[in-house]
Amino acid sequence: MSNVVNDTKIPNNVDLSSDKRLQRALEAWQPNFLSWWNDMGPFGFQQDDVFLRTAISVTSEGWANFDYVKMPDYRWGIFLADPVKDRTIGFGDQMGEPVWQQVPGEHRNALRRIIVTQGDTEPASVEQQRMLGHSCPSVYDLRNLFQVNVEEGRHLWAMVYLLHTYFGRDGREEAEALLERRSGDPDKPRILGAFNEPCTDWLSFFMFTFFTDRDGKFQLLALAESAFDPLSRTTRFMLTEEAHHMFVGETGVLRIVERTAQQMAEHKIEHPDQVRKLGLIDLPTMQKYLNLWYTLSLDLFGGEISSNAASYFATGLKGRAKEDQFEDHKALDTSYAMQVVKEGRLVNEDVPLRNAMNEVLRDAYVEDCQRGVDKWNRAIAAHGIDFKLTLPNRRFHRHIGIYSGLHADPEGNLISKDQFEAKRDAWLPSEADKSYVKSLMQKPIYDPKQMANWISAPKQGIKGRPVDFEYVRHEA
Ligand SMILES: [Fe+2]
Ligand SMILES: [Fe+2]
Repeated sequence: MSNVVNDTKIPNNVDLSSDKRLQRALEAWQPNFLSWWNDMGPFGFQQDDVFLRTAISVTSEGWANFDYVKMPDYRWGIFLADPVKDRTIGFGDQMGEPVWQQVPGEHRNALRRIIVTQGDTEPASVEQQRMLGHSCPSVYDLRNLFQVNVEEGRHLWAMVYLLHTYFGRDGREEAEALLERRSGDPDKPRILGAFNEPCTDWLSFFMFTFFTDRDGKFQLLALAESAFDPLSRTTRFMLTEEAHHMFVGETGVLRIVERTAQQMAEHKIEHPDQVRKLGLIDLPTMQKYLNLWYTLSLDLFGGEISSNAASYFATGLKGRAKEDQFEDHKALDTSYAMQVVKEGRLVNEDVPLRNAMNEVLRDAYVEDCQRGVDKWNRAIAAHGIDFKLTLPNRRFHRHIGIYSGLHADPEGNLISKDQFEAKRDAWLPSEADKSYVKSLMQKPIYDPKQMANWISAPKQGIKGRPVDFEYVRHEA
């Protein structure tokens, strides 16, 4: 692979061809990125032709170009959404002042930390998903997995662009470190908890793309409000890609739910054991996977009461999702009513709003998750099955924030550790559940005409192609 950085190899709208400093930084970084991709990207499919979407410009025609490409040849580009003319800071203490085109010295460390934390999640998820191709339910799904993977790779590029362009030597070092940490490695783990969890079956993958990528969506929405304009523009473009990741999750879970509910109705069965006899994923097991990935993702928003969140808001680094929908952008004399735990009991406390910004973002996330869950439930009800998936209370199974270290049931009642442990396997995937789910996925499906038994076919294919199109040319 030649080590040349140019506009053809790296589609961009940041004027790369005339930015010598950025070229030099990328020339050093790109070979390491490629060797990371070859080591840690999808295992066993690197030479296959995959029908992928590549962004080659930010225009509506340019950002979604479809063609067959081998993944290592994917053109990971650098795109910023178009600048908003005369954009001003939309919240916090400097509200109304012009946004920043450079990093103010006093915010350098905080901004770098925000960018590195976001950037770290992108390669992490690729690492988590690298073996999934070997258990795919269909060629359609295999292609969607790889689309998500290459785009997470591009999101890494997006963050590395910011580090290289605005943070000098520290930025270059951080960009290298992003390729050195490894998901789940005890010695050099990824920064955030959920990104070190194994994601080794397709039920987990769909839950991950629904719940964990959705955390990504809300972090990006909050960063799109940033006073640091290059960060705002970068994240705004990333959101266009993120939407597909959540589509993969939402429709993936929906198709499993549909298949199970439809078969339950057809065979007039209710008991999970009978569902399993048909080689399907029973709804109580789906609920447990939902409980796991939802709560791991809730943790990603950080502590409920956070001085960091307050200072990010005050200084304009990170706003709320869709800040302009709020009336008061200073958030100074308001409070947020929260249930906190004092001496083992839940009590109401008014927290200054700025300190509750993580919780405000989490609220928006929870609401968005509920919308998807409602859709799944409508599909179950449509087959006349009496079962409802629910989002557990946000005190359940938490490891970050004021509810960590406590034990709560899915309704949010505080219980003892022993009580929790006694019910753990009823609330979260047990070893038996995990091996059952994996047992369904022993044989990958590489024939475009086939679909695994445990999932229904999608309503439509990609970009006008039929569902049974050869989205990945893979020799089994
Ligand atoms: Fe991403
Ligand atoms: Fe994503």
